[in-house]
Amino acid sequence: MKAEHRVFRGDCLEVLKGMRSGSVDLVYIDPPFNTGTERRMDRLKVRSAPEGRSGFSGRRYETTSVGSLAYADSFDDYLGGFLEPRLREVHRVLSARGTLYVHLGWQEVHYVKVLLDAIFGRTSFLNEIVWAWDYGGKTKRRWPPKHDDILVYVKDPRRYTFNTDAVDRIPYMAPKLAGPQKAAFGKFPTDAWWHTIVPTSGPERTGYPTQKPLGVLRRIVAASSKPGDFVLDCFAGSGTTGAACLELGRRFVLVDANPAAIRVMRRRFAGVAGITWGPAASSS
Ligand SMILES: C[S@@+](CC[C@H](N)C(=O)[O-])C[C@H]1O[C@@H](n2cnc3c(N)ncnc32)[C@H](O)[C@@H]1O
Repeated sequence: MKAEHRVFRGDCLEVLKGMRSGSVDLVYIDPPFNTGTERRMDRLKVRSAPEGRSGFSGRRYETTSVGSLAYADSFDDYLGGFLEPRLREVHRVLSARGTLYVHLGWQEVHYVKVLLDAIFGRTSFLNEIVWAWDYGGKTKRRWPPKHDDILVYVKDPRRYTFNTDAVDRIPYMAPKLAGPQKAAFGKFPTDAWWHTIVPTSGPERTGYPTQKPLGVLRRIVAASSKPGDFVLDCFAGSGTTGAACLELGRRFVLVDANPAAIRVMRRRFAGVAGITWGPAASSS
């Protein structure tokens, strides 16, 4: 069977340089945020234990560590040395009707906006999407930061793919004002997306640090690509973009430099036919 999807292990700059100009229709990237730390997620096994810590409904449990997954997130020259050459290559490989989504934290988004304006041109800037959630600890010393920014650029602002009708609809905030018919249909989302983080337990969770919710990627892929299109994520992590593509009938190219990410994707896509694993990945 002809392989439809590709997964590469390696620096995305090298993989991008080997790709044809104009060959992908949608790019979503979620690069490291330059937090200056190692992003780590400890993987815990929980089992009930009569002498353990007390939890929900008075049940007692204990946790044991079953390892951790991590990647480095500290760069001396994040903008010019790391991001810029990769974003220039992304611009080159994007097709004439293509769209780029760049997922960033509040620490770097403003600098990256200016960089992307220089690469794509300001008229190609389509949206700043705010993805907001409400989970986890909250500081009392400032407004607790509970959002990421997703910058959206198109190759050509006069013609680009945007499938309004394919996007999931959301509940009205005041359904009574909208009326029963409109309320039942739901409304088209704005550029502010409320969506929970990946649930801490449950089938979506892969254990990879900073894994993004499938619901967010599903909306992006549905809106900005067509069935059969090529979708690239060259900071793929746990492969969330690939999972959305599989649901929606798109072909994917995923790249990650971290062998642990490739192992997680192998588990996540186990049993999926038509994936070619890049040469370095096949030895992991
Ligand atoms: C924020 S995580 C992506 C998480 C992903 N969106 C998900 O849902 O799981 C960033 C990823 O970029 C990868 N990465 C960092 N530098 C890279 C590079 N030069 N080439 C390819 N991947 C890189 C890291 O290994 C990490 O997995």
